[in-house]
Amino acid sequence: MTENTPDEIAVGIDIGGTGIKGAIVNVTTGELLTDRKKLPTPEGGKPDDIAATVAELVDTLGEIPAHASVGICFPAVVRHGVTMSAANVSKKWIGFEAEKLFEKTLSRDITFVNDADAAGFGEVRYGAAKGKGGLILMTTLGTGIGSAIIYDGVLVPNAELGHLEIDGVDYETKAAYSAKEREDLSWKKWAERLQKYYTTLEKLFSPDLFLVGGGVSKSYEEFLPLLSLDTPIIPAELRNNAGILGAACLSTMRTTFLE
Ligand code: BGC
Repeated sequence: MTENTPDEIAVGIDIGGTGIKGAIVNVTTGELLTDRKKLPTPEGGKPDDIAATVAELVDTLGEIPAHASVGICFPAVVRHGVTMSAANVSKKWIGFEAEKLFEKTLSRDITFVNDADAAGFGEVRYGAAKGKGGLILMTTLGTGIGSAIIYDGVLVPNAELGHLEIDGVDYETKAAYSAKEREDLSWKKWAERLQKYYTTLEKLFSPDLFLVGGGVSKSYEEFLPLLSLDTPIIPAELRNNAGILGAACLSTMRTTFLE
């Protein structure tokens, strides 16, 4: 481990549909200070079971300084610590006091945020869009489509742009990576859907940059060159660490001067 000042150390946990990952990180440098640990997401994805698995995961990270903040990201809208949606997770999360449950289970303060918000913020802070200003739209192409809006380094939380209605349907059902797999679409056929999706986003937001994350972004050469957009579109860089780093960093940024 390098020398870390106490306020640089934070914990990031990324809860996904199949796995829960976490690490202790340095939020100044974006370095992982421990190995990334992973446990399978419990069957059914219910809140108590997930919280118990997160506690187990945190125990495997070794000693965590008492003052280190903890950020946890999850695939749902999260308003003031309450999960408000459940597109691809157990419906038990709707209207659920998630932040409180994890604080009780881990016996410490935590910050609970949306997974794509964390990943997008992580990419702007440490990854593919490091230090870039302007309007950046992060999209994660996985089971669903996650999105994050970051303007001049400031995150506008809970953009749910994966659920834009296009051609009369919730478009993540057409353009998420899961749709490619489910329908066995070629890269070309899938890219046609992505073309429609990103053109719609372009029209609505006039962004300066699109970032594309999610596991499939490692194969970006197969589909990004097939898109024709006015906005630059680039793959995310932090891969499996984006959510961990973004959640950890967001947890250190809670303002104390607002009510
Ligand atoms: C959810 C989002 C989430 C995204 C990626 C969508 O179905 O509505 O909250 O960020 O999937 O996990």
